[in-house]
Amino acid sequence: MELLPLWLCLGFHFLTVEWRNRSGIVMATSQGGCELLDGVADCRGQNLASVPGNLPPSSQTLLLDANPLKTLWNHSLQRYPLLESLSLHSCRLEHISRGAFQKQARLCSLALPDNSLSESYKEAAAALHGLRGLRRLDLSGNSLTEDMVALMLQNLSSLESVSLARNTIMRLDDSVFEGLGRLRELDLQRNYIFEIEGGAFDGLPELRHLNLAYNNLPCIVDFGLTQLRSLNVSYNVLEWFLASGGEATFELEALDLSHNQLLFFPLLPQCSKLHTLLLRDNNMGFYRDLYNTSSPQEMVAQFLLMDGNVTNISTVNLWEEFSSSDLSDLRFLDMSQNQFQYLPDGFLKKMPSLSHLNLNRNCLMTLHIREHEPPGALTELDLSQNQLSELHLAPGLPGCLRSLRSFNLSSNRLLGVPTGLFADASNLATIDMSHNQISLCPRPGDLDPGGAPGCVNFRNVASLRSLSLEGCGLGALQDCSFQGTALTHLDLSGNWGLLNGSTAPLWDIAPTLQVLSLRNVGLSSSFKELDFSGFGNLRDLDLSGNALTSFPRFRGSLALQTLDLRRNLLTALPQRAVSEQLVGSLRTIYLSQNPYDCCGVEGWGALQRLHTVADLAMVTCNLSSKIIRLTELPGGVPQVCKWERVDMGLLYLVLILPSCLTLLVACTVIFLTFRKPLLQVVKSRCHWSSIY
Ligand SMILES: *[C@@H]1O[C@H](CO)[C@@H](O)[C@H](O)[C@H]1NC(C)=O
Ligand SMILES: *[C@@H]1O[C@H](CO)[C@@H](O)[C@H](O)[C@H]1NC(C)=O
Ligand SMILES: *[C@@H]1O[C@H](CO)[C@@H](O)[C@H](O)[C@H]1NC(C)=O
Ligand SMILES: *[C@@H]1O[C@H](CO)[C@@H](O)[C@H](O)[C@H]1NC(C)=O
Ligand SMILES: *[C@@H]1O[C@H](CO)[C@@H](O)[C@H](O)[C@H]1NC(C)=O
Ligand SMILES: *[C@@H]1O[C@H](CO)[C@@H](O)[C@H](O)[C@H]1NC(C)=O
Ligand SMILES: *[C@@H]1O[C@H](CO)[C@@H](O)[C@H](O)[C@H]1NC(C)=O
Ligand SMILES: *[C@@H]1O[C@H](CO)[C@@H](O)[C@H](O)[C@H]1NC(C)=O
Ligand SMILES: *[C@@H]1O[C@H](CO)[C@@H](O)[C@H](O)[C@H]1NC(C)=O
Ligand SMILES: *[C@@H]1O[C@H](CO)[C@@H](O)[C@H](O)[C@H]1NC(C)=O
Repeated sequence: MELLPLWLCLGFHFLTVEWRNRSGIVMATSQGGCELLDGVADCRGQNLASVPGNLPPSSQTLLLDANPLKTLWNHSLQRYPLLESLSLHSCRLEHISRGAFQKQARLCSLALPDNSLSESYKEAAAALHGLRGLRRLDLSGNSLTEDMVALMLQNLSSLESVSLARNTIMRLDDSVFEGLGRLRELDLQRNYIFEIEGGAFDGLPELRHLNLAYNNLPCIVDFGLTQLRSLNVSYNVLEWFLASGGEATFELEALDLSHNQLLFFPLLPQCSKLHTLLLRDNNMGFYRDLYNTSSPQEMVAQFLLMDGNVTNISTVNLWEEFSSSDLSDLRFLDMSQNQFQYLPDGFLKKMPSLSHLNLNRNCLMTLHIREHEPPGALTELDLSQNQLSELHLAPGLPGCLRSLRSFNLSSNRLLGVPTGLFADASNLATIDMSHNQISLCPRPGDLDPGGAPGCVNFRNVASLRSLSLEGCGLGALQDCSFQGTALTHLDLSGNWGLLNGSTAPLWDIAPTLQVLSLRNVGLSSSFKELDFSGFGNLRDLDLSGNALTSFPRFRGSLALQTLDLRRNLLTALPQRAVSEQLVGSLRTIYLSQNPYDCCGVEGWGALQRLHTVADLAMVTCNLSSKIIRLTELPGGVPQVCKWERVDMGLLYLVLILPSCLTLLVACTVIFLTFRKPLLQVVKSRCHWSSIY
């Protein structure tokens, strides 16, 4: 009897739980498709013409993006006084009433990107002025001019982050950002700014991040924003960057000047914390070595700095471009896609912390490797696509490049590298020497050491894992060229005649190799099939563009996942090999552009079922003189071929045999019937008047 109340209690409890859960669902669906979760009302893309009025009044975040609201009325948000974050991205807003935010004292984040607020910006400005606690404001993509912006930001002194990207601002003066004393982050990218007056950012002592990318700024001179941590002026038309002189300490850590028209290395602050400097895609060079000047005074530039009616002249020695800049904290330097023909002595020495240096696509002809130059901290050096014909290594310099992990020398004019350069770099894991006409050094015992001055030796570079020697004109590979390395990735493509039908020269590294590329090396399997049996860890093998007539052997190579056999001379599909060895691991195989014989593709069905043929639709075969896609072959391939063979042999027999027989029978009958000479019979029967 005592159990009954317990049962009743439990039953009631379950009922309430069920009711609560169900009521939650009811709420979520009844409110115009808005999803509610932890004070967030998500009404994005619901085609709402007005702000829904039935959301929980306690909502703190309201997402209304992509609804055609057009207008925000005084009453629109009245029910939600606790709102802290409001997002109105792409709501076609043209009008925000003066009192629209009058109840939203707690609002700290307001996103209004991609609307049409320039239509009635004065009203909108008035509405914003009530937001005393606003910290983040996004006004990007609203066709706002500098005057509109100045009005809308007036007195919003609590703002910490403002985005004005994608508007129509053209020039900035000190009135635009007046009184934004707490602003830390300002995004002005993708406007039409061509002029920034001195003092425009003077009222922003807390400014840390300034983005001016994609504008039309022709130069930045007298840069004096010492408080800034990051400045992005990429994609402008800068010809000069000149920091203000003097010993002020700049907080600047990241400076992006890429995609401009700088001619000279930027004149950076004398004292800064710069660790990232991006100068990609400019017209920069160093010039001192290229001109003969007796008097260095000739090579100065004078900048006229005008402020009101005060004119200051700043004189810069163009040959000392980098000498006064503080680069001691620099870790990441990208100078790719410029016109550098050389690096001045001492240039890299100024950057003892440098870890990444990118000099891709310049005009460098030689590089001198000296003590601390490049600095010992360097881990990645990209010298690809230059005109390097020589690397100079100062003698007696053990362990230079000791931190280097990746060295890209691709597409230069190198014939070799200094002896021991790679062997001394004890952390070097990746070398790209593709597209240089190099040769590999013969084994010390094979030839006299003086015999091959320009050659590269990869033997015993124990740290090496990835090596690209594509298109190096290597010639026939000798045994043990990679002895003492544990290469996992090797690209030998485009070296014609590299392997003479045998993988023997690679056996040293066969156990470690994971990715091997032997594209266009003229491999043929005319003597015997190519054997990859010892390559136990090989995952990815590219054999395309060769002259293989038979499928390579993979006994024991169970790790193979990707195999590329395109553009070879295979005539039969590898049905035995595939089914026996590869099925286990193979995920992708490329087989197209081979002259398969349609009658030798019995394994096709099995291959198709494996779903591993990546270029299935492109695989074709030759049927007499026709080329047919294998996927379009009617039904069973063998029938087609039987008919094809019948055509050739039996058909002729069937056609010719009856005629022959008939002829033979006719002749016999004639012969038996008329034993007289045939001519005589014809003559007598026709009574020709004799012409004989
Ligand atoms: C509501 O239902 C879900 C499963 O749909 C369950 O995980 C949750 O615990 C239920 N809520 C309550 C309060 O029981
Ligand atoms: C909205 O409120 C403001 C005052 O906050 C008032 O001046 C204005 O007339 C109101 N607009 C409408 C359309 O009610
Ligand atoms: C901005 O603040 C100043 C003084 O703090 C005041 O005089 C001015 O009217 C304010 N402007 C607006 C548009 O509220
Ligand atoms: C600078 O801005 C451009 C454009 O938004 C961007 O692509 C680039 O990554 C930025 N640079 C840095 C260092 O953030
Ligand atoms: C510079 O002048 C010296 C001697 O006056 C001459 O030998 C050298 O070739 C000149 N270099 C260039 C780049 O003109
Ligand atoms: C010009 O130089 C004077 C004195 O060196 C300095 O006080 C002033 O700020 C400078 N003005 C500009 C625009 O650089
Ligand atoms: C120009 O400078 C003089 C003093 O050097 C000053 O009296 C005058 O007001 C300035 N004019 C302007 C337009 O700033
Ligand atoms: C080396 O540089 C070339 C050209 O810039 C690039 O294609 C290649 O991927 C780079 N190699 C490595 C290993 O990063
Ligand atoms: C290539 O191999 C064949 C047969 O193994 C041999 O006769 C020939 O001499 C080799 N060619 C070269 C250049 O080593
Ligand atoms: C297959 O057809 C192509 C194109 O007509 C021809 O070049 C090739 O020699 C043929 N191959 C064979 C094995 O018949």
